[in-house]
Amino acid sequence: MGFATTLNCSSILFLISGIVLLYPIMVASIGINYGQIANNLPAPENVIPLVKSVGATKLKLYDADPRVLKAFANTGVEFIVGLGNEYLSKMRDPNKALAWVKTNVQVYLPATKIICIAVGNEVLTFNDTSLSDDLLPAMQGVHTALVNLNLHKQVSVTTAHSLAVLQISYPPSAGAFRTDLTACITQILNFHVKTDSPFLINAYPFFAYKANPKQVPIDFVLFQSNTGIVDPISNLHYDNMLFAQIDAVYSALASLGFKKLCVQISETGWPSKGDEDEAGATPENAKKYNGNLMKLIAQNKGTPMRPTSDLNIFVFALFNENMKPGPASERNYGLFKPDGTPVYPLGFSNDVGTTNSSSGSSNTSGFGTRPPMPSPPASSSTGYLSISSSAEEVAVHSVLLFLCLVVSTAN
Ligand SMILES: *[C@@H]1O[C@H](CO)[C@@H](O)[C@H](O)[C@H]1NC(C)=O
Ligand SMILES: *[C@@H]1O[C@H](CO)[C@@H](O)[C@H](O)[C@H]1NC(C)=O
Ligand SMILES: *[C@@H]1O[C@H](CO)[C@@H](O)[C@H](O)[C@H]1NC(C)=O
Repeated sequence: MGFATTLNCSSILFLISGIVLLYPIMVASIGINYGQIANNLPAPENVIPLVKSVGATKLKLYDADPRVLKAFANTGVEFIVGLGNEYLSKMRDPNKALAWVKTNVQVYLPATKIICIAVGNEVLTFNDTSLSDDLLPAMQGVHTALVNLNLHKQVSVTTAHSLAVLQISYPPSAGAFRTDLTACITQILNFHVKTDSPFLINAYPFFAYKANPKQVPIDFVLFQSNTGIVDPISNLHYDNMLFAQIDAVYSALASLGFKKLCVQISETGWPSKGDEDEAGATPENAKKYNGNLMKLIAQNKGTPMRPTSDLNIFVFALFNENMKPGPASERNYGLFKPDGTPVYPLGFSNDVGTTNSSSGSSNTSGFGTRPPMPSPPASSSTGYLSISSSAEEVAVHSVLLFLCLVVSTAN
């Protein structure tokens, strides 16, 4: 009897611990950027099993590709669709905004779960005044169209920023927006509060490393074990650069009085290949960055400043994109090659090994229970460069402090 009781107890404990272990994995969800600047990508129907194989539950598009939105109907995958920078000025016209939302969003609902529209990508860091001036009116125009269609409760409106909107990114507690952008950003933040929409930022520790490979500790950018750095003002300890970058964003928002906004990392990732002068762009490093990041997400980790907030990360990107301009790294952020095979193993038992993904698509029972897979940054080819400049700044600042700390510790 006592034996039986013990058995029961331990099986219950076993069950409970199983649930506890699974729970964070099931609630934490990973997103992937589905960029399509390529001429060799598989048909969207064949992409569904790839997305599921890495446990991703969210996709971000840079447009509102009808083929993708149709193919993913009834899959449960949530979408952020994009409205390109070239359409911003048109969205000032309420009729055009209404037409855009009807054609690109409403027709797919509810079968395809479009939950957000990203209006423009990295607009403010192009330093194009007329484009920047169009941003908020475009966001408002699209939101008003959603209100008129009574879709505003299920679809939010936002825009994705480059990390280069920050003037100060180190230490994280001193994070601040570029002073010349403060007025504009404040209005956008008010829009987020009013409409209950998230603030999106693209962040790439890779740029920091690439700019300064001799001084930026590779383990610090790849989420590997390392001593990390301590923010001298907050005393918070950082063992990876991405969290430092995210907390710099939280600080910048707080300094303008926006402490409660939901922040999402709309792009992050690591390339598996690059040009000669692109240090760190290897499959091994990409695997470490994305694999470690996915583990953190699966563990429901938050940043030191926001330990209980979801990370809300969209990896860049689903595929290598052969037609992206710029350095070789730009074409090699993908988790998958165009033939559907993984660029490097991320270690999931159900990694899809071939484009013949019929088994993956027919068996979705594992969907969402595996750790999500990270993907590289979005197809924002031009914005990428501006990210890199800010990332360099981040790198340099944190390197200097890091070196200081290392020296003082050694003494
Ligand atoms: C935009 O302007 C900022 C501030 O003047 C500058 O630091 C940055 O390099 C500029 N970016 C581009 C892409 O011109
Ligand atoms: C691909 O799927 C088809 C149909 O399900 C099957 O007959 C074929 O053997 C599969 N090929 C591979 C390489 O798995
Ligand atoms: C689907 O996957 C589950 C768990 O991974 C497994 O138990 C089940 O047998 C699979 N079903 C098919 C049809 O492959």
